[in-house]
Amino acid sequence: MASEHNHIPELSQLRTRHSSKWRRYGHDVLPMHVAEMDFEVASGIRKTLAKMINESDLGYLGPIPEVGEAFSKYAAKKWHWQVDAHQVKLATDVGVAAVEIFRAIVKPGDKVMVNSPVYTNFWTWIPEVGGQVLDVPLDRARGWRLDVDAIDKAFASGVKVLLLCNPQNPVGTVHSREELTAIAASARKHGAIVVSDEIHAPLTYDDAEFVPFLACGEDAEKVGICITSSSKSWNTAGLKAAIVVTKSDEMLHLVAKLPEAMHWRASLLGAFAMAESFDRSAGWVDEVVEALDENRHHLLAEIAAKLPKVKTHLPQSTYLAWLDVSEMNLGDQPAIKILEKARVALDPGTNFGPQFGQFVRFNFATSKENITAAIDRISCL
Ligand SMILES: Cc1ncc(COP(=O)(O)O)c(C=O)c1O
Repeated sequence: MASEHNHIPELSQLRTRHSSKWRRYGHDVLPMHVAEMDFEVASGIRKTLAKMINESDLGYLGPIPEVGEAFSKYAAKKWHWQVDAHQVKLATDVGVAAVEIFRAIVKPGDKVMVNSPVYTNFWTWIPEVGGQVLDVPLDRARGWRLDVDAIDKAFASGVKVLLLCNPQNPVGTVHSREELTAIAASARKHGAIVVSDEIHAPLTYDDAEFVPFLACGEDAEKVGICITSSSKSWNTAGLKAAIVVTKSDEMLHLVAKLPEAMHWRASLLGAFAMAESFDRSAGWVDEVVEALDENRHHLLAEIAAKLPKVKTHLPQSTYLAWLDVSEMNLGDQPAIKILEKARVALDPGTNFGPQFGQFVRFNFATSKENITAAIDRISCL
């Protein structure tokens, strides 16, 4: 549903944006790759930022209780999850939060579990601290769900950290309370820690229920650390601010050891935009989800009609579609072929796990016209 809150500028206007989505490729390419949305940013965020800029209010980031209070209010209303504002710590971005947590808990050579297909940087944050990625893939046959038994076996074999993606980029799976509770119990039994990246959570559709890992009982509280930000759902990734959330004394104690610099290196504008997002601009994202809901159905209908060889599914969350293009015979690097021949930029499946060479990720957070145009271009291949 179009509304003043989810307006998308014309392509010619979008092409003047300075972000990675609009700068990476030439003007003849339709960019459907990096996870940015084309909607205009919430007016409340724009007002907050404009006021700070106009008042030359651009110094270092000091204490900001507003963020913990806003997130705790949002989590209670949206997910019935009680967060103690004092257990919300600021971080530069989700990537920095993950890396700093790993620096504290991962020794060189230690294995950190991930569940492919999963967000590109999960494959880079772990080696950045000398850890080794151990992949326990999602189960495609059950609709890209977590393989809880395999995760339990990995913990039993001595793996001490799981980096969970909930909801899961790129397949949009929202993990269930049962799955998360079982993982928490297994992690606690084997003395492991679960770092749960929940950055896509506010973008969950009505037909699924997002469950925060830390809302899954005492085991989860004892072993879990949530890393998240408003930046994905309110589309402000360039502003650089995120949060680390804990629920138990044990995890609070661990997070207290992380460097102070994680706070200082966040941006003042980003932090206040986050407080505004989770508080006064909370409703904006719900309207965006309504528009994205229409887009996900539109994309699937377009694919069924024009790309019948492509296999995909309706994501439960976020604005990314995971396309199996193996029957299109596009060679070893389908995303490159699609870019070169159809002038549509998609993310190659191998960004999400080495075995996904015949997949591409399609970002549908744009207008229906752009989605149709991209599918039309690809269908001419
Ligand atoms: C699961 C996940 N985590 C983290 C990020 C990036 O977050 P940040 O820019 O705060 O590091 C993304 C970006 O798409 C993501 O999909």
